Amino acid sequence: MNTTFLKACRGEKVSYTPVWIMRQAGRYLPDYHKVRDKVSFLTLCKSPDLAAEVTLQPVDIIGVDAAILFSDILIPLEAMGLELEFREKQGPVFPSPVRDKDAVDRLVVPDPEEKLGFVMETIRVLRRELENKVPLIGFSGAPFTLATYVIEGGSSKNFFLTKKMMFSAPDLYADLLNKITDCTISYLKAQAAAGAQALQIFDSWAGALAPCDFESFALPYVQRIIREIKETGVPIIYFANNGSTLLDLAKTSGADVLGLDWRINLDDAVKRLGPDISVQGNLDPCALLLPPDKLEKRVSRILEQAKGARGHIFNLGHGILPETPPENARYMVETVQRLSRVG
Ligand code: CP3
Repeated sequence: MNTTFLKACRGEKVSYTPVWIMRQAGRYLPDYHKVRDKVSFLTLCKSPDLAAEVTLQPVDIIGVDAAILFSDILIPLEAMGLELEFREKQGPVFPSPVRDKDAVDRLVVPDPEEKLGFVMETIRVLRRELENKVPLIGFSGAPFTLATYVIEGGSSKNFFLTKKMMFSAPDLYADLLNKITDCTISYLKAQAAAGAQALQIFDSWAGALAPCDFESFALPYVQRIIREIKETGVPIIYFANNGSTLLDLAKTSGADVLGLDWRINLDDAVKRLGPDISVQGNLDPCALLLPPDKLEKRVSRILEQAKGARGHIFNLGHGILPETPPENARYMVETVQRLSRVG
């Protein structure tokens, strides 16, 4: 098996820097559209053979060093008893948001094999079909990021209702976050048991929080998840998007790897994080639209800046944009693998 990704997670020696792309299966790939044109997004997530097919597309077409399970961070919230819709142009919607005690009390912590069996089945299909070509990453959302969706009822700009609950009803907020945390722990353990070889926790909206609020209202739940899933033995990546002001706190999450967005220079981050954690990132997704020579310079700079890190996994600083030409993504991946190769 190509183990560069797993080795870099653990800070072991690698012959080149492994690379994968957040949201690497998705709308920038014509092959994804071919599958997606026939079924809704949620149906795709719940059909193990189709979900496995689109998971494998970027491995074959782009040449990445890891596959990531095709699913969505919001899927387990549906299993907790919330209605979830993905609307064209609008994105995810929870028509009955969680804003009071009754709604929190109604949430269930599901048995993942029973209620999310399609995810575990996708993982099992993938491990068979990958034939150990590259490792498979499983994932979840972080409790704070998931809570923003269920409280706001969908995507949000300033997270007003979420912060209102945090500040005016902290006990209710903690009850909600603890239920989401319990669900996430058993969900991630089940993914590892089904065959996921690394686990990434996406905290997409962590950067909306002041450091003191991140410390009180987001980080403790991530720490609890990581403490509990350590026993699976698989490497854990924590990605707090827009979190360069939160690095010192994020380091205490317990993760093996911290994902970094592009708003910080990688060498600054490495200096602040020290020698006992690996890093992942951090090319601006828009840089994939640059001409090849300029893109190559940016890749080279990031590889150079990562040299002091315990381990480095190359990635974008956030998800790939639907407008990206697939050949540019492929060129970026080849460039990382070529420029970083030792000997
Ligand atoms: O990375 C991968 O290739 C694996 C699949 C994956 C998806 N979503 C597929 C998806 C992963 C890891 C996610 C995570 C996710 N989902 C996050 C965290 C990462 C991030 O970008 O910050 C978040 C915040 C979500 C919630 C979500 N899902 C939104 C806001 C939307 C609508 C906006 C958008 O980007 O389309 C989705 C839909 C979604 N999730 C799509 C895909 C491929 C597009 C669905 C379609 O085909 O129409």
